[in-house]
Parts: sequence; C-alpha cells; structure tokens
Amino acid sequence: MKVLIVGSGGREHAIAWKAAQSPRVTKLYCAPGNAGIAGIAECVDIGVMEFEKLADFAKEQEIDLTIVGPDDPLAGGIVDVFEARGLRVFGPRKNAAILEASKAFSKDLMKKYGIPTAAYEVFDDAEKALEYLETASMPIVLKADGLALGKGVLICHTPEEAKAGVREIMTDKKFGAAGNQMVIEEFMTGREVSVLSFVDGDTIRIMTSSQDHKRAQDGDQGLNTGGMGTFSPSPFYTEEVDRFCREHIYQATVDAMKQEGRPFKGIIFFGLMLTEKGPRVLEYNARFGDPETQVVLPRMKNDLIDVVEACVDGTLDQVELEFEDNAAVCVVLASDGYPVHYEKGFPIRGLERFEGADGYYVFHAGTKFDAEGRVVTNGGRVLGVTATGGTLKEARRRAYEATEWVAFDNKYMRHDIGKAIDEA
Ligand code: AMP
Ligand code: GLY
Repeated sequence: MKVLIVGSGGREHAIAWKAAQSPRVTKLYCAPGNAGIAGIAECVDIGVMEFEKLADFAKEQEIDLTIVGPDDPLAGGIVDVFEARGLRVFGPRKNAAILEASKAFSKDLMKKYGIPTAAYEVFDDAEKALEYLETASMPIVLKADGLALGKGVLICHTPEEAKAGVREIMTDKKFGAAGNQMVIEEFMTGREVSVLSFVDGDTIRIMTSSQDHKRAQDGDQGLNTGGMGTFSPSPFYTEEVDRFCREHIYQATVDAMKQEGRPFKGIIFFGLMLTEKGPRVLEYNARFGDPETQVVLPRMKNDLIDVVEACVDGTLDQVELEFEDNAAVCVVLASDGYPVHYEKGFPIRGLERFEGADGYYVFHAGTKFDAEGRVVTNGGRVLGVTATGGTLKEARRRAYEATEWVAFDNKYMRHDIGKAIDEA
C-alpha cells in the first residue's frame, strides 16, 4: 500500500521510519518532509496547511492511507477535507482536534466528566482576569486558549507578573488569536509524564510512557521549547499510577468526547503531572509528541500500519500493543539560540555513522539539502539522536555517545536529558 505522511519534523521522521518497517508499505511519501525523511520516503513539496493540494496529490497517487503528524493541520480540519474526498486518513476531525486546540474546551470537558486536572477559570475578558488575580494565590498558571507552539503557558510567581502576563496574552496578543480566551489555573507540583495512546473512537490503547524536557537549558532553566530530549519508559510511571489513569483518565476522556458528539480517532497524548494527590491531566495533545515519538516508536513491536488502520476502521479492540522490554533516550541537537534567534544553513557532518549502527537512530527535525546536495541545518531543533539500551542508564550513555558522531556549527544540546532517572 501507498502511505503519505504529513509533516516535516523529527516526529514525522520517526513515524516514517516505523511505517517503512511494515511489509505492507510499498511506497512512502512525505509532505513536505526533510533531508532525513528523504532517505526513506519520497518528499513532496506541499505545505502541511495546503489541504486541497495534499488531497489532490493523494487522489492522483492513489494513496491508501495518510498519517497527519502536526497539530496545526489537524486543528484546521485536514481530516475533514480528506474524508470529504473519500480518502483514508489517520487523525482526529476538526471537532475532535479541539481537545488540544482549545484549552478552555479541554478544561471544561474534564470538569464536566470528573477527569482529574488543576482547578481553573476561563476568561474572555482581560479586565475580569485581572480582577480575579486580585485574590488568587501564587504561583499561578496562565494559558492562552489556542495553539501557541507550546509557548502559550506562563507560570507566574507574583500578582504583578501574573497581571503583566494577562496583558501579554489578552491585550497585546503575544500569541495571536490563541489569546482571545485564556485559562487561569492552579499551580501544581510533581513529576511530569507523557503518555501517548491510539484511539478508534471507542477503544483506547496506551503506549509506553515517556518524559520530555521542555526547557532550553540544563537543570530546567531557560525558555520553554518544543522539547529538548526525552526518555522512555518513565520510572515514575508506576503500576499504581497506570491503574489510576486507566480508571479515571484514559477511557473517561474517550467516552467524554464520544458523549459530546466529537468521537476521537487518532492519537491522544496525555500530559500528566504526578502530584501528591495523584495524577492530574496538565494538557491533552491530539497528535504524537515531538520528541516523545522518537523514543516510543523505536520500542514498539507492533506494525504501526496495522494499528493505525485499526483506529481508522474502529477495530482497535482487537489489537494489543507490545513494547520491547528496554529503554530509549533521545537528545535533541539544536541550533544555538533556539528557541529565540538562531542561524541556519550549516552543513552537518557524520550522519553516515548511524547507518547500520544497531539501536542508534538519528531523526531529522530541521534539515534540508542545500544547492550542492549537502545536508544542512534548517531549524531550531536540528536532529534527534536516539539510542536504545537494556536500561535507561545504558540508553542514556549510548545516546550521548552518539551525539558526538555528528558535527555542525552552533550545535547545542542539553547534557542532562534523563538525569532524573538517577533519582528513581
Ligand atoms: P502545557 O502546554 O499545558 O503542557 O504546559 C506547558 C508546561 O507548563 C507543562 O509541561 C508544565 O511544565 C507547565 N504547567 C502547565 N500547567 C501547569 C500547572 N497547572 N502547574 C504547574 N505547571 C504547569
Ligand atoms: N514534546 C511535547 C509536545 O510534543 O507537545
């Protein structure tokens, strides 16, 4: 079968790599892809928001299945466009992608259905939000309602800081229309865990756990980024936590969406915080995590295409997911200055070291070919270097070893990815 993947980051490279393992896949396309994805798929120069062009391409090439990676096209309704054209596509429709696209929606959903999350209020008026802050206790968390590249969340320690945050989000529209509404919520403390799942509208199947490192610098300092590295599994995701989440969070979310007339098919990514009072949902994403996918898919034993098709067909109840009894660590190699200002276009050396290196992977996030055909940096996050190992420590040692195989100007990484596991 012919498969099209929509997106161009490390997540899509990992999805493409995993899809390519399926004996059922005869031809793989990726739109728009990157220099790494080009090694396993034919890259097509169509942007992720060009829904009609993508659907035209899928029709012309008789694509059997399209897998959508990023949040923006899902929130924009790419799945609805493909379905209207009679194309098979994996991902939530627009009315279900709202689970990620509106924090006000997801918080109200959790409240209505008793799914554990931080206490909150929704505001569509800056004055009311400022008034609320007069009596709120600190620290407090401000969230722009809409999609904001993971940057629309402000943790404020003083009322002055919080008021300035409200003005940034709602008055100055720092995150654009994402700030037309905002959520103000209780600050929680605890370990964060990411749990990805496949959903077919009714049934949910949980993947192995992972943990991201969102801040730019070691010791969780600096600005929030898309994610600087991940490890899987999380040793903090115990059987007890799993039991609680299965009982109160996972199926409850799928049932709530169905009840609301917004059946969810695709990936639900649960961002959890393990608080003293038990696990709480920090946020939902309606797609694979990036870079969580780079540590989860290399550990998955199932044929990805089989699982994705079961979601599309509503037969996920007949599928059991299986993961290797190992661990994986992904260290993101970024361009120095990310997530603010960084340069692009530097040649990347050493990528060939990964060819045939068992249990080592280099997923491309921001790369392209230059006019001379060299692979050059083309983004803030450039590569995701992943290694598996028998234990998390072993995987971490191997991942950091492999970060030395590649070189490019302004190469930057965190040196403490997975360090938390030492405390487990
Ligand atoms: P979100 O995009 O909602 O996941 O928020 C981004 C990051 O902000 C999370 O990964 C947490 O580190 C932090 N965060 C979000 N909500 C809260 C909260 N209620 N309490 C403490 N930290 C939070
Ligand atoms: N790594 C966090 C995300 O994909 O949103």
